[in-house]
Parts: sequence; structure tokens; C-alpha cells
Amino acid sequence: MRIWGHGGALPPQIITNEQLAQQVDTSDEWIVTRTGIKERRVVVNGSGSLVALALEASRQALASTGVAPIEVDLILLTSSTPDDLFGSAAQIQQGLGAYRSVAFDLTAACSGFVFGVITAAQFIRSGTFRHILVVGADVLSRWVDWQDRGTCILFGDGAGAVLVSSHSRDNLLGFAMATDGKGGGLLNLPYAPDRSGFAPIFMNGKEVYRFAVTKVPETIEEILAKSHHQPQDVDWYILHQANQRIMDAVALRLGVAPHKMVSNIAQVGNTSAASIPLALDDYARSGQIKPGDKIMAVGFGAGLSWGGVLFQWG
Ligand code: COA
Repeated sequence: MRIWGHGGALPPQIITNEQLAQQVDTSDEWIVTRTGIKERRVVVNGSGSLVALALEASRQALASTGVAPIEVDLILLTSSTPDDLFGSAAQIQQGLGAYRSVAFDLTAACSGFVFGVITAAQFIRSGTFRHILVVGADVLSRWVDWQDRGTCILFGDGAGAVLVSSHSRDNLLGFAMATDGKGGGLLNLPYAPDRSGFAPIFMNGKEVYRFAVTKVPETIEEILAKSHHQPQDVDWYILHQANQRIMDAVALRLGVAPHKMVSNIAQVGNTSAASIPLALDDYARSGQIKPGDKIMAVGFGAGLSWGGVLFQWG
């Protein structure tokens, strides 16, 4: 089995920290110091959609492998913000012309992409499917309260995609995944009957931060131990891009050199399920991540949920 192919898409509209500081009581300095984020991209109502972003990322990912849409067996759209609550994966199938594939959505917030790759791996290892497109896409800007300075500074929109395919070598070296519903109230986007829709994103930032800096290193250590790797055997750590301080804290705790910690958060913010494949796409496109490199990707977020996957790229 191999994980290969990469694609990423961002909407054109940029919102800088300075622009946010004109709407809520915050500053570029506060946001950069506390999060590492400088700007984020958002889908503007009426122009662009989750499906459009996901399609662009998917086309790039397929093109980088040479696998034709008609060869794809399964499309897994990992997203918490589909254009259609019945699911948006079928629209990706249609848009790509991947008519042989079955397509469905998988929701696990910011852990979605990692959960998607692990799910895809089971279908590959069982021999059920040969090519699975895993797409991570979110447009959380639709569900952010733009007057809440505690959350609106963090999130951005985007999509990223990879292909998981059968191969003579199994390059999935290890994985772990977990859920703790007790923490569901710390970060959510619940249905609100009085609004006949969804409430804006609620987050207890301090507790989510504490959760992340505890569970992410534990997950990495678990995967390393089970797969007989040392932290230094891994070429790249791609953590969910939620906060630069979380990435720095994890690097420090595990003794990982900062240059191995992939980061594009300054430009895109927290793009939820898109975060890991977008960062992977950035580094693969610039030639920093190379075929054969060992990558540890770790997602975490609402649920609470978290999970990681160690694989050899390409
Ligand atoms: N601008 C300026 N001040 C802000 C602010 C903003 N955007 N947001 C909060 N503040 C204020 C608070 O009101 C508080 O003021 P007070 O001391 O007068 O009460 C102060 O800054 C400190 O707030 P606090 O919430 O303790 O800040 P923090 O250092 O914990 O940083 C987050 C806040 C959200 C950046 C941080 O908690 C975080 O990143 N948490 C994890 C979030 C995450 O990863 N979410 C996604 C998971 S998928």
C-alpha cells in the first residue's frame, strides 16, 4: 500500500490579522504571538464552495500520480462542513467523472483526514479496492462567529487530497486513533433548534490547548513504539495546523528538530480536515518532502478525537 499524490486548493479571498483587528478587539501582534497565524483564506458567500475546492485538490492529486478518475474505486471526503448535509462526496465523484467509484463523507472534525487515510488503508489491505482518493476539505468560515475574537482569528478554508493505492510494499508503518466524547463540550458546532440551523463554533481554547499538548505527543510515542521507530527516524512531522505553539511544544517534548515540524499555519490558519493534506501538498510541491521520506501525521480536534499515521511517502 502506498500514500502518494498530492493536491491543495485555497480560496482567493485573504483575510489578514489587520483586517480582523478592524472588526474585533485584537491585534496582529496578539494573534501572531499566541497562534503563529498571519492570514487565512475564506470562501466568500456566492462565489466558491467546498466542492469546488475539493475538486481542485482532487484533480491535482490524481494528476500527480497519473491515475485516471475512472480508475478510482472509492472517494472519501473528510469534512465537517459539506455543501450538503446529505454529504458532498457524490458531487466530487460527479465533478471528476470518477463514475466507477463509490463516494461518501466521513466526519471527524480536524482528525478527519487522518481517520480517512486509516479507513482507506483498511479497504486497501483487505484487497477490496485499489485506488482511494482521500480528500480533506472544510469551510469553517461559514460557521465562525466573526464577532468572537476567541475563535474567528483561528480558522480558514481549504482542501487537500492524497491517493491511497495498493502496492507491492506496504508503506503504512503504523497508526493510532481515539475518541473521548466526555470532552465534546469543549469544541463543538451543534444544531441549534431556535436558529433552525447550527450555532457558531464554540471553543474552550485553554482546555483544547491542554488536550492537544497532552494527547498529540502520547499518540506519536505510541505509534513510534508499536512500529519500532525512534523520534529521529521520522523525516517530517505534520501536525494538524491549529496553533504554532502546540507544534513547538510537541517538538520540544519529543526532542524533534524544529525544521522537521511542517508548518504553513501563518498563511492558512486552522483549515480543519484540510490542514494536514494542505501542508503535505505545500512541502511536496516545493520539493522538501521527497518520495521515501517517513512522515508522521497527527490530527486532533472536536469530538474530542485524535489520531496519527506513520507512513513512507510516495
Ligand atoms: N485578541 C486579543 N485578546 C484576546 C483574543 C484575541 N483574539 N482572544 C482572547 N483574548 C484575551 C482573552 O480575553 C484573555 O483576556 P483576559 O486575560 O483579560 O481574560 C487573554 O487574551 C488570554 O486569553 P486566553 O484564552 O487565556 O489565551 P490563550 O493564550 O489560551 O490563547 C488560543 C487563546 C485560542 C489562541 C489558545 O487557547 C489556543 O490556541 N487553544 C487551542 C485552540 C485549538 O487548537 N483549537 C482547534 C483545535 S482543532
